Order: sequence, then C-alpha cells, then structure tokens
Amino acid sequence: MLKSISRLFASKQRSVVARARADAATKLRLRFDPYYHVVDSQQAGMVMTAEGREVVMMCSNEYLGLSHHAAVRRAAQAAIDEWGTSPCGSRLANGSRAYHVELEEDLAEFLGKEACHVSTAGYLAQMSALSSFNRRKDAIIADKSIHASLWDGARLSGADIERFAHEDMASLRAVLAKLPADQPKTVVVDGVYSMEGHVASLPEICDLCDEHGAALVVDDCHGFGVLGREGRGTADHHGCTARVDLLTGSFSKSLASTGGYLAGDKATIEYLRTSSQQIIFSAAISPSCAAAARAALRVLRAEPEHLGRLWENTRYFHGLLTGIGVDTWGSPTPAVPIVIGEKERCYFIWKSLMDQGFFTVMSIAPGVPEGKDMLRCAVSALHTREQLDRFGDALVVAMKKAHYTPPGAR
Ligand SMILES: Cc1ncc(COP(=O)(O)O)c(C=O)c1O
Repeated sequence: MLKSISRLFASKQRSVVARARADAATKLRLRFDPYYHVVDSQQAGMVMTAEGREVVMMCSNEYLGLSHHAAVRRAAQAAIDEWGTSPCGSRLANGSRAYHVELEEDLAEFLGKEACHVSTAGYLAQMSALSSFNRRKDAIIADKSIHASLWDGARLSGADIERFAHEDMASLRAVLAKLPADQPKTVVVDGVYSMEGHVASLPEICDLCDEHGAALVVDDCHGFGVLGREGRGTADHHGCTARVDLLTGSFSKSLASTGGYLAGDKATIEYLRTSSQQIIFSAAISPSCAAAARAALRVLRAEPEHLGRLWENTRYFHGLLTGIGVDTWGSPTPAVPIVIGEKERCYFIWKSLMDQGFFTVMSIAPGVPEGKDMLRCAVSALHTREQLDRFGDALVVAMKKAHYTPPGAR
C-alpha cells in the first residue's frame, strides 16, 4: 500500500498522454460533432437510421450499390461456413487460402494485368505500392492531391518526394525535367481523385513517364467499377492499362467489401510479396471479405444495369447541382464535391442537411486545399430520383440558412 502511494507521488506526468487528452482539434470535433455519427440500422438502399432519425446516405462510396445484393451476401455467408471468420495470420507465415488466389486471378484477368495481390485494406495496398517499390535515392513524383495512403507509402520508402500541381501536365513535365536522368523515378497519381472527382489525364502522364523512364502507379479506388469497359477503371477508360506499372484499388467502394488490391506484372507482384512490410507482416484478408469482393466482381460483370444506373444518377445529380449554381469543381464523376470555401459556412450547411435527413461529409482544409472546404457527396446506383431531388431542395434551404449564395446563382 505504502509502496503504491509513494509510486503515485513519484510518477511523472506522461506528457504524450496529456497532450492527446488536451488536443484542441479533438475537443472542437466533439463539440460540433460533424463526424462518427452512428447508423443504428441499414437496409438495402440508401435510407438508414442514424441516432434515431431517418437519413438518406449521400456520401457512401457504394457506387454500384452491391453491399446488400443477394449473391454478394450469400457468398460472404457461405465463405464463413466453409472457412471460418479469419485466416488469423499473414500469407507468408500461414499460407494463402484458395479464396485469396481465386480472387486475385479474377481481378488480374478483369483488370488486364498478369498478377494481383489482395490486402486487408486499400490503404495497405496503396502503401505497399510505394513503400518497397521505391527506395532511398529514388524520386517519387506525386500529384499534390493523391490520397493519404500514397503519401504514407512514399514517406516510408525513403525516396525523395517531389510534388506537381494537381492534374497540371506542364508542372509534371517541369518536375521530371529537373531531376537527374539516371535517378530511378516513379510517378504516382489517383485514377479518379477522391475529393475532387477529377479523372487523371493518363495518356499524357504515360507519355511523360515514357519520356523520362519513370514507373507509373495509379490508385484507382474511385475509378474501379465506375469508368472503363464494364467498370475496369480509369486506365481502361483511357486505353492505357499496359502502360501503368501498378494499378491499386479498394474493395470498399464498388466491390462492397473491405480490402484492397495491387495489380501488375507477375515479377513485380512477386517482388512486392518478398519485400513489402505491409504484405509480409499483416494478416490476410478474411474469407467473407474476399468472397464478397469476388461475388461483387461477378455481379458487376453479369449485371451491367448497376453501372448504367450509376451513370444515369450521376448525370442527373450533376445537372441538378448545376441548376442550383453550386461549385462542383468540374467533377465529371460520381465523386462530387460541393465546394463552399469557408469552414464555418460549410459546417452550417452540413448541419442543416443532417437536420433535414441527409448524411453528407464535410471535408475541410488541410484535408483539402485552403479555400476548397466542401461537402463531399457520392452518387450511388441505389439513389432514387426522388431522393436526389429532395437533396437538392434541402441544399437550397441549407445554403439560404447559412447566408451562402452559390457562385452559379450570383
Ligand atoms: C483514393 C483512395 N485511396 C485509398 C483509399 C483507402 O482505401 P480503403 O478504404 O480500402 O482502405 C481510399 C479510401 O477512401 C481512397 O479514396
């Protein structure tokens, strides 16, 4: 007893813990409460109950709406019956399972690549695409707007990191030109940018990579299932699959599961399996997630109506927003930003939309460039016209309440 009392008085304050507990940004988040709302129940479709109130989900990346598709659910359930809930270890240590290999073969064939490796998250797949593909003294040349997972992978690699202005080919050309000709280089871009919804200019990027002997990595989380033949993605949309060295993506969007993939030539994928920390030291994807992704891939190919509806809704939503006069940053895709440009107004509009039954997400600087604070919406094949129309009405009300006049209505 005496010993523990003396220890209490002798112990120093743990400054890291104290700093975390006192963090101002966390306190602000908890006070204004824009994130981490709890959805209590969810049926098929975009209507759900969040904290006792019915809301229409306007920002889920479930582009094709397959998370409740009967064939996808059945496949996930059957996989648990056959394989249990988890392989409980990494594939290097415990071996691959048949369902890993089958999913990888199907994905590689669909994407038009020789080989594929699947991970438990897109985030990990993207990190591994850069962290061991590159090394010290290499150069990674990145579009300023690439996803956080790629920045993490780039930093871990130890390579020099160079940035070019978002989707600006003159800027990319200038960065490449100033680097030593013999320095190993990798250009990294998103296929479809998650916040902006912009589609990468892959043909021009491929030409510049060829000119400078640079490898090309494309994170296609938001292009997969959305662009290209049957939804094969941004590289297929541009006809340059063979010119991209590593294509990466996520299962948590069009494939209605959780996980990610890397696709490329066989030798590169095997190299990554030998050298990527994220692959070697992380458990393999679970049977249910792998089976859901594989079944969703089959549905995507057999039932093109989901992709058709997604694009009908996307065109309709863009038309609706243009009519209202909001700034959608020129997005041509189902990833739709509604740029407000000021944090406070953005918050008020987000809150009013939530109060009117529309679940959106606020993306503010530094997560997006200064002055681009936005509500980020995503269109799904499951949205109905009536839901999109009601959202438009609610947005007009919300903007009025926030004393915000959109640029197209000024
Ligand atoms: C462009 C992009 N890359 C990577 C990821 C990470 O994927 P996951 O959610 O599967 O970890 C996301 C997810 O939001 C993304 O938008």
